[in-house]
Amino acid sequence: MKFFLDTADIDEIRAASAWGILDGVTTNPSLVAKTGRRFDDVKAEILALVDGPVSLEVTATDYEGMMREARALAQEGPQVVVKIPLTPAGIQATATCTKEGIRTNVTLCFSANQALLAAKAGATYISPFVGRMDDIGNPGMDVVSDILEIYNNYGYETQVLAASLRHPAHVLEAARLGAHVATMPIKVIEQLFKHPMTDLGLARFLADWQKVPE
Ligand code: E4P
Repeated sequence: MKFFLDTADIDEIRAASAWGILDGVTTNPSLVAKTGRRFDDVKAEILALVDGPVSLEVTATDYEGMMREARALAQEGPQVVVKIPLTPAGIQATATCTKEGIRTNVTLCFSANQALLAAKAGATYISPFVGRMDDIGNPGMDVVSDILEIYNNYGYETQVLAASLRHPAHVLEAARLGAHVATMPIKVIEQLFKHPMTDLGLARFLADWQKVPE
């Protein structure tokens, strides 16, 4: 399973990269706004830091505008994956990007039928927003499971990128289902390391080590 960090914060990307388990980064307009910095500056720093796929989102809502942004973003580096919302114009733009060899991450997916559209357009990744589905009482992992089953039925190569993950149980379930990628905030990655028995066991080992004669 690939791990992407869901952030536009450079310090967080540096910290997670240091662990040696980070495969890529996903951003969105809200995450960029949270940094309080210009998009161009944030984008340049992320691309200088990350070798793996970096999802950068278009903000136009019409096909022509999306394509202008997608083509410009794709010029920025080989790691760029253009993030495109799941609307009719977005699916049209995704299909054109596929023809032009531009990698895409179709975002704001809330149903398996939407994911089917993204696969038909040749999207590189589909991002079902698990946490936001849970928020409205629609179990997000059921949708991830349906998408994986449908993609498997037809051999679609679009990778399922479980997004909007809020806690370690989401990561566990996405991995059990076989989602290709999990994108998560740094807090969730930090939680994955944690187990009280690990802390207790280490404390005991270190205490016992003090008793070993020199
Ligand atoms: C996905 O790529 C999105 O950036 C993200 O996972 C959305 O998460 P949220 O619902 O916690 O904002």
